[in-house]
Order: sequence, then C-alpha cells, then structure tokens
Amino acid sequence: MRIGIIGAGRIGATLARHFARIGHEVAISNSRGPETLEDLAARMGGSVQAMTPREAAEFGQVVVVSIPYGRYRELPAAQLRGKLVIDTVNYYPERDGHDSDLDGEATTSSEKIREYTGANLVKAFNAIYWDTLRDAVRPKGDPERLAIPVAGTDSEAKAVVSGLIRDIGFDPVDVGDLGEGGRKYQPGTNVYAVPLHADELSGLLHV
Ligand SMILES: NC(=O)c1ccc[n+]([C@@H]2O[C@H](COP(=O)([O-])OP(=O)(O)OC[C@H]3O[C@@H](n4cnc5c(N)ncnc54)[C@H](OP(=O)(O)O)[C@@H]3O)[C@@H](O)[C@H]2O)c1
Repeated sequence: MRIGIIGAGRIGATLARHFARIGHEVAISNSRGPETLEDLAARMGGSVQAMTPREAAEFGQVVVVSIPYGRYRELPAAQLRGKLVIDTVNYYPERDGHDSDLDGEATTSSEKIREYTGANLVKAFNAIYWDTLRDAVRPKGDPERLAIPVAGTDSEAKAVVSGLIRDIGFDPVDVGDLGEGGRKYQPGTNVYAVPLHADELSGLLHV
C-alpha cells in the first residue's frame, strides 16, 4: 500500500518506520519542505521518500495526519477530500491556542479536521506515547501486546486501519464513531497514554 504521512515528528516518523518495515511504500512530509527530510527518509530505507504535504496526500492510498492541532488549517484539503486519513492529532490548548468549540466540548478535534478536509477520517494512534509506539511492538498472541483504540464512522476504513495496527504489532480496539468514540481516549481520559492490553482497554471504555 502507498501511505502518505503529513507531519514527520515523533509519531509521524515512528509510523513511517513501522509501515516501511512491513513492506509499504511511504512518503513523509513536514511544513519546512522535503529537503529537510531527505536524510531521515534515507535512514529509513529505500521505500521511504520525502515529499511536500500536498504530494504526500496525493501519493497515499492512506494518509496519516500527525501535526499539532493548531495548524490543521494548513492541511492540503483538496488533496485529502474523500481519502482515508488516519488522524493522530490531539488538542493541547497551551500548544495549539484555544479553540472555543473544543473548550466547550461542542465537537472534537477529529470532527473539526474531518469538516475542514472532507476526508474519510479514522482516529488512531492518539492515546499512545510515541516511544511506546516505537518500542512496544509484539507479535499477535503475545500476552504483552498493547491495544490501540480506533474510532471512525466508516467501518471499511476502520478495518483498513485496524489491519495496519495489527500488522505493525498492536491490537486495535473499535471504540465507535468518530465523535462519541473518539472522545473516550482524548487527553484527560482514563485510558490516555496508559499502556493497556485489548481486554483492559475494552473494559475501561465499555466497548
Ligand atoms: N508525541 C506523542 O507521544 C503523541 C502521542 C499521540 C498523539 N500525538 C499527537 O500527534 C500529533 C503529532 O505529535 P508529535 O509529537 O509527533 O509532534 P512533533 O514531534 O512536534 O512533530 C510535528 C510534525 O508536524 C509537522 N508539521 C507542523 N505543521 C505542519 C503543517 N502545516 N504541514 C505539514 N507538517 C506540519 C512538523 O514539521 P515542521 O517541523 O517542519 O513544522 C513536524 O514534523 C500532535 O497532534 C500530537 O498531539 C502525539
């Protein structure tokens, strides 16, 4: 599969390495331009290329968005419209600036990004620290294998993302639709950044 990644920081670059390791073609991008990512891409091996965000969005059959929430209006919305997008984004007002819709809990960061891009959004990799994502890979059936909650409105898209999660070494747990489900593992919830096995996560989230 071709996977485009917008935001090649701690989470984006960790996912790029995992997806390349399991045989996908990956494009990474950031706000400063592909020339700032060429060394990183080269270190990740021949299946990872550096591109602009717009090019990475066009390249990917699946596109990961992994940037600070405060910058989501810089995303290439025209190229993301209708695409399967994995949203790793969390809202931290002290980093991102205040968004009154989110402060008032009228909606969620994922729903705002879906509204802006028109993408087929699946929320995943939001509730795991990047270094746990990097280091805690385990084979299927391993008692130490950790769970990753997944939320989205389109069950086919969630199935694709769940497959990627399994293939890189974690267990997906379907938490429901993008809004209601996604709220269950935002910053401040009881499962956020807590390493949990699938049965523990399902129990805590009542799913
Ligand atoms: N760190 C974690 O453990 C963790 C865990 C779960 C979820 N998250 C969430 O995932 C997202 C990414 O977190 P992170 O820790 O990986 O961030 P990070 O290390 O600070 O990296 C952010 C990346 O986004 C890029 N970026 C910023 N604005 C952009 C734009 N307009 N277009 C394209 N790229 C842009 C940055 O590139 P430039 O430097 O070129 O601007 C950088 O590559 C955040 O929303 C965060 O809250 C983080």
